[in-house]
This record gives sequence, C-alpha cells and structure tokens, in this order.
Amino acid sequence: MNNQKRPIGIFDSGIGGLTVAKAVKEALPHEDIIYFGDTARVPYGIKSEETVRMYAMEITQFLLDKGVKMILIACNTVSASAKEDVVRLAGEVPVLDVISSGVQTIKEELRVSEPTVGVIGTLATVRSEAYKKALESTYSQIQVVQEACPLLVPLAEEGWIDHAVARLTLEHYLQAFQDQSLDAIILGCTHYPLFKPLISELLSSKETLIIDSAVSIARTAKDYLEHQDGCNNQGGSFSCYVSDRPQRFQELAERFLGHELSHIEIVRDWT
Ligand code: DGL
Repeated sequence: MNNQKRPIGIFDSGIGGLTVAKAVKEALPHEDIIYFGDTARVPYGIKSEETVRMYAMEITQFLLDKGVKMILIACNTVSASAKEDVVRLAGEVPVLDVISSGVQTIKEELRVSEPTVGVIGTLATVRSEAYKKALESTYSQIQVVQEACPLLVPLAEEGWIDHAVARLTLEHYLQAFQDQSLDAIILGCTHYPLFKPLISELLSSKETLIIDSAVSIARTAKDYLEHQDGCNNQGGSFSCYVSDRPQRFQELAERFLGHELSHIEIVRDWT
C-alpha cells in the first residue's frame, strides 16, 4: 500500500480517545482511521507504569501490523508512562502524544507570562508530574496545581457524562482549585473533554481557559502529513477495535461521534 493510503492509528484505554479521533476526522476528513479502545482493561490510570507500558506495547504492535502510517497516543496516562517505549517500537512510524500537544496549546493560547495552571488527570498522570515538568521547563514563573480525578473515567465509560453523580464528583474534585485564580486548566485525560460543559459551568472563574489537547494533536498530525506529502485524499473510513464489550462501545461512540460506526471488531488474541 502506498504511504498516503495507509491509515492513521489512534489508541486509548476506552472511549476517551474518541475526543481525539473526532478532532482528527474534522481536520483530516479523507484519512482512514483505525481506533483501538482497550475496553477490557480500562481504566489505565490506577495501574502501575509497568502494566500500562505492557498494554501500550501490545496495542502499538497491533496498529503497526495494520500498516498505520502514524500513531496518535490519545491517552495521557500512556503518554506519561510509555511514550518512549511506543516511539521505540514504532521505529520509522511517527508518534504524537496528547501531553506534548496540551503543553503546545497552552503556549499558543495563554497570554499570561506568569500563569497559574490547574491540571486534572488520572492518578498515574498526576503522579508522573509530566505536565508539571513540561510547563515548568517552558515558563520561568508558573504555578501548577494538580488534582487526580480517578472517578471520572468510570463515569465516562458508563455514559454518565451529564448525570447528577458526575456533577457531584466534579464539584468535589474542582474544590482543589477554589483558592486559586486559574488562568488555565488542562483536561489531562482524554475522557475529560466529555465533561467539558459541566467543568466550564463549575469553574469559579469564567475567564479560565480550558485546554483540551484533541484539536492541537489533530492539527500537528495534519501539518506533519502535509509536510511529508503523506495525506490521503480518497479515504475517510473509521474502523474501531476494542478488547471487550463492542456493543456497549458502539452505543457510546455513536452517541458521542453523532454517526453510526460501520466497522467495530473485538480483539482478544494479542499474539
Ligand atoms: N483517557 C486516558 C487518559 O487520557 C485513560 C484513562 C484511564 O484509562 O484511566 O489518561
């Protein structure tokens, strides 16, 4: 298959990475996309780094076997714990990740020289301090306040994105920022943009910039492919692979994407 016609691979632990897939479809409507959601093993954010790395390797190999021309790590937890391993395994296939894109977005959009930035993410992402380190190396004066929100991923996977329980849970987590005047808050987990309307309503300041790295990673992917003359002008398919409960995934994904999924398949055998 010629390079341009090869698909783009995107993966996450579950439905969260669809926020990235949607942005990629908008930026590059004629690309074929292969999406992998590891629904049998979600959530990743409460697991050890070694385990997340092992999962990431298996999925990367799966995508490489499908002949992808680019891999987007649509999971902050994997970006924080396993990006180097994914890059190594991918070899010549370029790899983009949501943490680099999130930091890039802050640099482009935040017009404050000594900002206070909130980061919400999984336990693993917050513990890795990946955002904190990247932001502190970008700004000479910055205050970064992090809060792990482990209950949000199960709520999103359950489709409870506008449920009263989601509101209560977010109210609790966002209390961590009540004494801060946040210039920006990073949605440091790709499941969290699903709660964006609620987050925006609950933040004490309406001036706080809400950073979701999906649009930025999609833009970087587009720039890269255009630059390498690697864009496909004739595709546009969207194939999903999951490791468990395909019907459930399909239902949630179709609701979020606003169209039917034409291809959804379960993967059980990694060898
Ligand atoms: N959506 C993922 C992230 O961005 C994974 C969440 C999880 O599985 O815990 O971190």
